[in-house]
Amino acid sequence: MKVLVTGGTKGIGKAIADKFSQEGAEVIVTARNAAPDMNKQHRFIAADLSKPEDISRLVNEVKDVDVLINNIGGVNTPGGGFSVLTDQHWLDALQLNLLTSVSLDRALLPGMIERKHGVIIHISSVSALQPFWDLNMTYGISKAALNAYSKTLATEVAPKGVRVVTVSPGMTKTAPMESFVNDIAAASGITFDQAFQAISARIGGVPFGRMAEPAEVAELVSFLVSPKASYITGANYVLDGGATPVVR
Ligand SMILES: NC(=O)c1ccc[n+]([C@@H]2O[C@H](COP(=O)([O-])OP(=O)(O)OC[C@H]3O[C@@H](n4cnc5c(N)ncnc54)[C@H](OP(=O)(O)O)[C@@H]3O)[C@@H](O)[C@H]2O)c1
Repeated sequence: MKVLVTGGTKGIGKAIADKFSQEGAEVIVTARNAAPDMNKQHRFIAADLSKPEDISRLVNEVKDVDVLINNIGGVNTPGGGFSVLTDQHWLDALQLNLLTSVSLDRALLPGMIERKHGVIIHISSVSALQPFWDLNMTYGISKAALNAYSKTLATEVAPKGVRVVTVSPGMTKTAPMESFVNDIAAASGITFDQAFQAISARIGGVPFGRMAEPAEVAELVSFLVSPKASYITGANYVLDGGATPVVR
């Protein structure tokens, strides 16, 4: 099984890539820069997925994959609500959180369809499910667009043998999340744990009382890619320690 993990050098992407290596897959990871603690079993291809020319070069090098994990994404615009957000901020967020996946899917799906076999995972976020206007409006909305795209694409390609599934983590212990909590702790003169609890309260509390480990997200992704999940497509799996206070 040949797997491409975008942003597979750090955080959730690295945990997913490590999990697939442990399972014996051929794993290709991509990111803008190599990371110091990269897994030597992974083939690394440097690419900035915000640049169409880098996406073309990556696809030419990778050729075909059985599994595509679209993991890169994040908050790349300021908080503060609608009035501080320019058109460029919106375009940047949509580029990072939606269009990188759209471009890679478009390039790698034809091979999957030809072989009548393949799985695409989109890593979204629970931020798509709640209106955090002040913290990260563009992030939640661009991830919500990703969710809609993922579901729609799943419907199109299911008859062609390809599954498309969304995974929506809640707060997960990676460098950007830890620095987000640290910044709030420093600004408010409170501890990391107090800041975590304050942020958790905004999302309705995390019943488990802790963040997810990246490896816990990787376990879910591994299951969803496996033949055990052969009837699962078009679904959005939330992994948030019970936090998001909605009944779906
Ligand atoms: N952590 C959380 O609490 C959390 C919660 C919900 C959802 N998520 C989602 O989970 C995904 C991963 O988040 P994370 O926290 O694991 O992030 P992370 O630790 O910062 O890792 C991000 C990865 O993406 C790469 N990357 C970033 N921009 C890129 C670009 N333009 N082109 C190519 N590679 C790029 C980074 O490497 P380089 O910097 O070298 O490019 C790195 O390998 C994101 O989609 C995020 O929205 C995270």
